[in-house]
Amino acid sequence: MAKVLIVYFSRTGNTEKMAQYIAEGVRFAGSEVELKKVSKVKSEDDLNGYDAYIFGCPTYHREMTQNFKTFFFLAEKAALAGKAAGAFGSYTHSGDAPKVIADTMEFVLKMKMVNLGSFNALEGKLQKDDAEIVKACQDYGKAVAETV
Ligand SMILES: Cc1cc2nc3c(=O)[nH]c(=O)nc-3n(C[C@H](O)[C@H](O)[C@H](O)COP(=O)(O)O)c2cc1C
Repeated sequence: MAKVLIVYFSRTGNTEKMAQYIAEGVRFAGSEVELKKVSKVKSEDDLNGYDAYIFGCPTYHREMTQNFKTFFFLAEKAALAGKAAGAFGSYTHSGDAPKVIADTMEFVLKMKMVNLGSFNALEGKLQKDDAEIVKACQDYGKAVAETV
């Protein structure tokens, strides 16, 4: 059974809800999923041993948060090249963080990004439990798990 790791940060809970809906989607695909707050990732060993990785961070001041940037320096040391990957994060307007996360996973960590599909069109704007966005999160989790 494929094992998927979701690592996320959330200040006010929106990205956390997205993470939970994405995790549901992974389970719909029959895969195993682990959700970890970024603060619980202490070393690169905490990242090894999964088949796919989905990282999520909200956008504040047009950036991902500092703790997520620091997390990427640790992720660089883990064996992630070639693994299936997804990115997400709640935001209200510019939504820079999920795009930068996706870029970093693809170009720095050399991971295989999963096409965002309908999730891309919605751009992960979870501010409330909008049924369309909940479904997009679930579909995205399912799509990432199914590539493994
Ligand atoms: C001080 C501040 C700065 C923000 N800057 C941005 C921004 O640059 N671009 C954007 O799209 N959203 C921005 N937002 C909106 C947040 O990304 C949005 O509230 C998001 O849902 C927070 O996610 P979280 O609940 O997971 O922390 C900002 C919010 C605050 C309070």
